[in-house]
Amino acid sequence: MVTAFAPGKCILFGEHAVVYGQPAVAVSIDAGVEVTIRESNSWILEGMPFEPSRHPHISHIIDDIFDYTGRPLKIDIKSGLFSAAGLGSSAALSNSMGAALHHLVNPDEPLDLISLARIGHSAEANAQKGRASPTDTATSALGGCVVVSGERVKGTQHVFDATLETPEGSRSWSICRASLPQVDDTWIVLGFTGIGSPTGRMVAGVAELIERDPQKMDDIRAIGEITSSGLASLSKGDMESVGFAMNSCHEKLRNIGVSCPEIESLISAVENHSLGTKLTGAGGGGCMVSLTRHPRRVAECIEIAGGKPLVSKLGSEGARIL
Ligand code: MEV
Repeated sequence: MVTAFAPGKCILFGEHAVVYGQPAVAVSIDAGVEVTIRESNSWILEGMPFEPSRHPHISHIIDDIFDYTGRPLKIDIKSGLFSAAGLGSSAALSNSMGAALHHLVNPDEPLDLISLARIGHSAEANAQKGRASPTDTATSALGGCVVVSGERVKGTQHVFDATLETPEGSRSWSICRASLPQVDDTWIVLGFTGIGSPTGRMVAGVAELIERDPQKMDDIRAIGEITSSGLASLSKGDMESVGFAMNSCHEKLRNIGVSCPEIESLISAVENHSLGTKLTGAGGGGCMVSLTRHPRRVAECIEIAGGKPLVSKLGSEGARIL
């Protein structure tokens, strides 16, 4: 039996724009997904017969990545993340499944987090019709603060590169680590709208919008610039400026049509107690994030406004075998 854990993630800046090569900054969060696998007489997922077509991430890892031909597996999943909510639950599931299967097949080989991030990215790309940046999977695998960009970003530590053939052409990204400031009075509070929003559909929607209105690329480029200045503020520990950059990023995300009334309502409920607020992840539902020194107050406001809160510090350990 093997159990592995991979954390979820919160994108502080750069979602959607990163699909077009602009930088994104994400941190891993405390909550994540735990996968336990054990050999069995038949394929079972969560107590039910495993149907590969209903679980593209898991079946891609078993068949295409590991080419697993061993005994059937009983797979159990424990998730502390809201799903289809922008918190990287599918990336954490892929990474956790990849880590567990790696350990089952090669028990003496240590877990290589870069290979794991690549496995996760392949599973995400497969499930998102070829449009997936490595942001979610790299942040969940490596942990801490991760910067993903079409070009290497100054002041960060390069970890690996990733390429992908997307319907819009070949894309490459550089994946780097950034150090997080030693601030112990600032938290992120995620607020789930209760509306699941599949990333693939939101990413395809932005691609269609840009095709209809190429000027929307200006918003994508502006998100890239805001991300760079937000990252510089984060590195200095200037959390007020980080919050300011988050607010500006959200305005641009609104312009590319990925916010929705439920996100706006959670943002209005908490902005007075926040350094900055924005949607996080794919949008269209899913979660907003508040950067705050008053996490309990913000969590209460989210609940009163009908959302579900999740409090985390910025950055946590990456994927691991338990
Ligand atoms: C989803 O968490 C982030 C997006 O930028 C998609 C991606 O990077 O693949 C919307």
